[in-house]
Amino acid sequence: MKKLMQLQRILYVFGFFFMSEQAALAKAQRFTTRLVEPWRFVRGNPAGAASPDLDDTSWAEVRVPHDWAISGPMDTKGDSNSKFNWHGEGWYRYHLTPPEADAGKRYFLDFDGVMAFPKVYVNGQLAGEWDYGYNSFRVDATPYLNFGRDNVIAVHADTRNHASRWYPGAGIYRKVTLTVTGPVHVAEWGTFVTVPKLSPAAADVAIRTTIDNNLPEPTVVSLTTDIYAPGPRAAPVAQRTETVTVPASASATVTQVLSVGTPQLWDLQTPSLYTAVSVLKVGGKTRDIYDTKFGIRTLQFTKDQGLLLNGRRVQLHGANLHHDLGPLGAAFHRRAAQRQLEIMRDMGVNAVRFSHNPAAPEFLELADEMGFLVFAECFDKWDQTADRLPQVSLNDFAERQISSFVRRDRNHPSIMIWSIGNEIWDIEANVFGGSAEQVGTIASYVRANDPTRPVTMATHILQSIKTGLHRYLDVQSWNYGRKYIPGRQAYPDMPVLMSESASAVSTRGYYELPLPRYKEAFPAAPLLSSFDFHAVSWGDIADIEFAKLEAHSFIAGEFIWSGFDYIGEPTPYEKVARSSFFGAVDLVGLPKDRYYLYRSYWRPEVDTVHILPHWNWPNKMGQTVPVMVYTSGDSAELFLNGRSLGRQTKFPVNSALPANLAASHNFDRSYYGVTRSYRLRWDGVKFEPGELTAVAYRGSQKIGEARVLTAAPPTHLELVADRQEIRADGEDLSFITVTARDDHGTVDPDGSQMVQLQLAGPGQIVGVGNGDPNSLDPFVAKDVRLFHGQAVVIVRSIAGRAAQLKLEATTPQLRAARSEIVTH
Ligand code: GAL
Repeated sequence: MKKLMQLQRILYVFGFFFMSEQAALAKAQRFTTRLVEPWRFVRGNPAGAASPDLDDTSWAEVRVPHDWAISGPMDTKGDSNSKFNWHGEGWYRYHLTPPEADAGKRYFLDFDGVMAFPKVYVNGQLAGEWDYGYNSFRVDATPYLNFGRDNVIAVHADTRNHASRWYPGAGIYRKVTLTVTGPVHVAEWGTFVTVPKLSPAAADVAIRTTIDNNLPEPTVVSLTTDIYAPGPRAAPVAQRTETVTVPASASATVTQVLSVGTPQLWDLQTPSLYTAVSVLKVGGKTRDIYDTKFGIRTLQFTKDQGLLLNGRRVQLHGANLHHDLGPLGAAFHRRAAQRQLEIMRDMGVNAVRFSHNPAAPEFLELADEMGFLVFAECFDKWDQTADRLPQVSLNDFAERQISSFVRRDRNHPSIMIWSIGNEIWDIEANVFGGSAEQVGTIASYVRANDPTRPVTMATHILQSIKTGLHRYLDVQSWNYGRKYIPGRQAYPDMPVLMSESASAVSTRGYYELPLPRYKEAFPAAPLLSSFDFHAVSWGDIADIEFAKLEAHSFIAGEFIWSGFDYIGEPTPYEKVARSSFFGAVDLVGLPKDRYYLYRSYWRPEVDTVHILPHWNWPNKMGQTVPVMVYTSGDSAELFLNGRSLGRQTKFPVNSALPANLAASHNFDRSYYGVTRSYRLRWDGVKFEPGELTAVAYRGSQKIGEARVLTAAPPTHLELVADRQEIRADGEDLSFITVTARDDHGTVDPDGSQMVQLQLAGPGQIVGVGNGDPNSLDPFVAKDVRLFHGQAVVIVRSIAGRAAQLKLEATTPQLRAARSEIVTH
């Protein structure tokens, strides 16, 4: 490993000799590389941790992104919300030797996110610090570096003053990039692309470029911007050159407007991305080349028609996502994020709210490339959840953080709206010094950095209408209930969306009988029935939200809470459980039944037929077990052991909802009637073992079948990798599902076997999990317990070691399973 690092460093220093002259010249000016490993890490706060003289060889060798808390141990007496011990301090150190020839260049350290309160030292001197764990920041290391010699970068992370309602992670949990530029260069996030005029024939693309001059004299710079069409790079489709004199040790901003003919629009099905390439020349010599991806599209929130994307209504089928990646914790992995979005897309999600903080930049890149709309949010509260300490001025803090948040991401076509916060109770209610005017001030920081997109804030209490904060916002975003009705009465011209809906709760594979009498009739077991009738007091089950949105078509759509389960907030079992029950998908990415309910409703064009529950009820012989079918068809016939149990048809959509629906905490059984418009139900099936089959129809046309069999005792394990070929780059992941099955292939619905894992070849098991919110088994382990017959193992490749990996899963009494993964 060490040798490889040394080789990488040598290649980094001499790399430009192997490039073409033009590229070399440019690269000699701007060069970026990720600082992945080897970082040294220690928990705590040892004396002299920043000092270049410290011998750090006893510290652990880690790769970044790194989450120091996720490897456990978990403790039920620990943090009530996540059971992980993430509070504390930690230090990271990295050795860097910039070549002597680089003297005169700028060396920037770009951090995407450090939890929390990072202080960055270079050779023992404080080079920069930052005060929001979820936001990106840059440190200019240049003044502290010794070129041609070993330098020590030391980063102190301290979560002791961080507050969180969910698992935040700890340490350098997103990537670190070293950006090397010449003294004249495009500034950090230095371009802003907008499309002031658009027709099918042409788009006016305005690009504002900020150029930094670190030289002590004014410098004449020529800026050429080339625009390249989506797809493989051919000749530019538009070009402009301007010359500007950038004052000594200062910046200048140039605006260029380029015309792009017959623009290819960015849309959900065709997420076309253009690239603007900014080339800076001084005295005829190229000094910097900087790429900006952007999209051309129109986006308009309307008061009656919801959201129009390129002039066409898009109903938001949104999901809230927290930043953790299940067993990987907060440590960002691009592939894990991409998998989350793939799973969401299959469910029918077309929009994501990154609740409640700036996401990793790669998440936005993926949203751009995959065609998702994004509700981008900066803060949960404006207090220590956002790392704002009581003595720090709110306005200064918010101005600084919002500026970074918006400037980093404002070129992403996926971003449709900026949110300045979630459920800020004191501001909404105008108490404890909070005031509606603060909303106006903070919204103005967004508009100063991006005047093109609407600004919102997720509100949740009716007082906010009285206090009038919505007058400072462009769109009303409501969490839960039907508060949007008085909201719309007060502001009839404002567009409305539901930033949070549902907060339905369930556990994958767990079914409880009889059905609950009301939504909060939670079982005594810390598990929640997957018949999908449970929601928290302030929320509603999926079907009720569908009905509301159909009744009130002015709403742009909903963002369900939540797409995936996440670590923390194990409502309603906070005392014992570790992770949430809110997800339509469990913590490791296995769909719950609800996933199919959304899929059947959100994707009517796709044939979905899903049946529940499992069919192993030995204690219910001859007794009633309700059966449900989630289908995009409109009817289905159910057969038990070949006998028809009748055909059910979905009820017409009930737009006349019971008046007190949202207010009621007692989710009376009569409301279950609403569900009959969205799912098919056979409530009186008398259990007998065997085979239960649903045949679904759209009109008279059969669209598919779903079948569930009574499982015999399991005989074997099965391994299925989501991808059997991954890149040998030390980043790429394969997610392998382990399942216990019987000889007919039926999943063991009660399976809780402990499975031993062995991986042969150059790869690493980096996480395991099973979606059980109550499990306190470690995520970093060589074994995993099945939960309702299933679990997931996450394997990562090793950089530069292409090979065949062999994963073996064994457990007593069952036949073992093997899976091969090729890395290349
Ligand atoms: C909301 C809150 C979310 C989450 C959710 C759970 O009120 O904004 O962060 O806590 O409740 O239902």
